[in-house]
Amino acid sequence: MKTQVAIIGSGPSGLLLGQLLHNAGIDNIIIERVTPEHVLGRIRAGLLEEGSVEMVREAGVSERMDKEGLVHDGFEVALGNGEIRRVDLKKHSGGKQVVVYGQTEITKDFMDARDASDAQTIYEVDNVEIHDPKTDSPYVTFTTKDGKEERIDCDYVAGCDGFHGVSRKTIPENERTEHEKLYNVGWLGMLSDTPPISDELIYGTSDRGFFLCSMRSETRSRYYVDVSMDEKVEDWSDDRFWEELKSRLPESIRGNLVTGPSLEKSIAPLRSFITEPMQYGRLFLVGDAAHIVPPTGAKGLNLASSDVNYLYRIM
Ligand code: FAD
Ligand code: PHB
Repeated sequence: MKTQVAIIGSGPSGLLLGQLLHNAGIDNIIIERVTPEHVLGRIRAGLLEEGSVEMVREAGVSERMDKEGLVHDGFEVALGNGEIRRVDLKKHSGGKQVVVYGQTEITKDFMDARDASDAQTIYEVDNVEIHDPKTDSPYVTFTTKDGKEERIDCDYVAGCDGFHGVSRKTIPENERTEHEKLYNVGWLGMLSDTPPISDELIYGTSDRGFFLCSMRSETRSRYYVDVSMDEKVEDWSDDRFWEELKSRLPESIRGNLVTGPSLEKSIAPLRSFITEPMQYGRLFLVGDAAHIVPPTGAKGLNLASSDVNYLYRIM
């Protein structure tokens, strides 16, 4: 196989880059380790900053986001003493707003757009290796789900394969510097088809720890509580989760919480990580492959879009 840009990973970074390049007439192939269903099953980001929203629009995949995304001008912070303060994002950032629209939905929109084009995505690949990134003719080898060995010759490789991918590790250890901080806590997240407790996000502290009340739509909520890293998600029944969340909420809003069965529960470790360089010859690291920030700031996907913005324009 031959293409201009071989993209490793079909998360938000890979799909966004692939679509923008495709629209610009730059041929690319995406290879992905798991099935599309698996990619869509990961519940992650919910909050898009202006820059990401603009990128999705530029890629021509914003129709559903523009229709269904919830535009927020601010968020609330519960201080732990019963007080809740509002942060007016729009006022303090010179008019900026954020859009609440799940990573799952963006990913689905981009997958649909790619399926409707003639751009190629190969799912369920294994043994991915990037070769000769420091030459003018790099190539990628992998095994298909039918066990066939394949090779993509390309001009550039975009490593969009997240924190656990192979792209970063292609850069030899003695030419790579990594900085990492583990916080020893995770966020236990739960998604449910229940109306959100509030119109805006609430980040809060309490005697029992942190909580975040977020949402995906007017009828779907996303809640988080922080837990120690030795907690197992199997030990958290829905009832236990709701009780824990309730015990952390300020009394004034506790009664507004609507509970119901979960659609998904998972624990995400909190980590800060950055690697340098992000370019190694003709290999570029994009998004979580190069840097991770804890979800507290809702920055990860937004930083990934920013990486894509620069790389796409350069290409
Ligand atoms: P990924 O999403 O990790 O995608 C990488 C892809 O590469 C995956 O599909 C993987 O299967 C594939 N892959 C891996 N290895 C290989 C291989 N060897 N070969 C081929 N494919 C491979 N960010 C925000 O901006 N706002 C938020 O509100 C927010 N909330 C979050 C909440 C939680 C609980 C978590 C965990 C994260 C949150 N983030 C948020 C961060 C955001 O989800 C990530 O930054 C984002 O997913 C990064 O996208 P990516 O495409 O770079 O990497
Ligand atoms: C989410 O809705 O999943 C979300 C929102 C804000 C964050 C992190 C996650 O800071």
